[in-house]
Amino acid sequence: MKVSVRVPATTANLGPGFDCFGLALQIYNTITIEETIMPKEDIEIIIITHEDKEINEMHLPTDNSNVIYRAIELLYGYVGQIPSAMKITIDTEIPIAKGLGSSASVIVGSLMAANKLLGSPADLDALLSIATEVEGHPDNITSAILGSFVLSSLEDDGSIIYQKIDWPQDWKLTLCIPDYELATNISRSVLPEEVKMQDAVFNARRCAMFIQALQTKNSELMKIAMQDKLHQPYRIRLVPGLDEIIDNLKNVDEVLGTALSGAGPSILVISKGNNIETIKSIIKSTWEKYSVKADIRTIGVDLDGAKII
Ligand code: HSE
Repeated sequence: MKVSVRVPATTANLGPGFDCFGLALQIYNTITIEETIMPKEDIEIIIITHEDKEINEMHLPTDNSNVIYRAIELLYGYVGQIPSAMKITIDTEIPIAKGLGSSASVIVGSLMAANKLLGSPADLDALLSIATEVEGHPDNITSAILGSFVLSSLEDDGSIIYQKIDWPQDWKLTLCIPDYELATNISRSVLPEEVKMQDAVFNARRCAMFIQALQTKNSELMKIAMQDKLHQPYRIRLVPGLDEIIDNLKNVDEVLGTALSGAGPSILVISKGNNIETIKSIIKSTWEKYSVKADIRTIGVDLDGAKII
């Protein structure tokens, strides 16, 4: 038997919502699991990329440092079984290590496909908990599974509280993907263990404003809401030009906010109206000063989340 799951890319944090805001994007990975009868290889993982329009195949080691292997093991453990031999193929469109949820997408896709092969013993809440245990934080995971904007919280008992909120149709997303990679663990390693009370209060206020702005489609409130003092100030040294780009776009007409996408290095701009070319040229010229080339795209919001196809 063979099951394929299509999973969207995600942008996390959106400024103030560190580890709790996620938004699904119309870029997809497709994860296919096939049961096999190969006696020696337990789980074979094949990655297919389409870079430069060439199809490249890459085989990954299947030790338990691999997030897919860990996800499958946890799911089988949850149902009291040992993983059988299987071949996992990942057809990737989501750029890797760019802050667009590529690891969340493969974790979600392999879990959903393996769960289907097992006869769907794990419900949505169980899948969210297992996927978050592997990923470490729920923001990319919940929005990849549910689609659209999701507010999520990893609770002390490992359960996930989540709330899906509609994204205003006329709020456009521009993603600026630089030509270098930044691993999430490196981008998390520069964050402090503790933050100042006034910075925590600043972000609590911005998160409250963000959710209110989203629910009432209030663009003026959104312009204030997309600010952060918990992670971006520390990550600026890993993403040269981030502070300048945020600053240069602040007063552009109908730009609602600019933020690091997840752990970076991509940058997300939210805007209304016909200002996309202005946004693109500001980012391009700022990054040129740092010799950074970028792929700048306007991308739609995925509304439905991961799907078995
Ligand atoms: N919230 C996470 C972070 C997203 O900022 O590190 C990265 O996957």
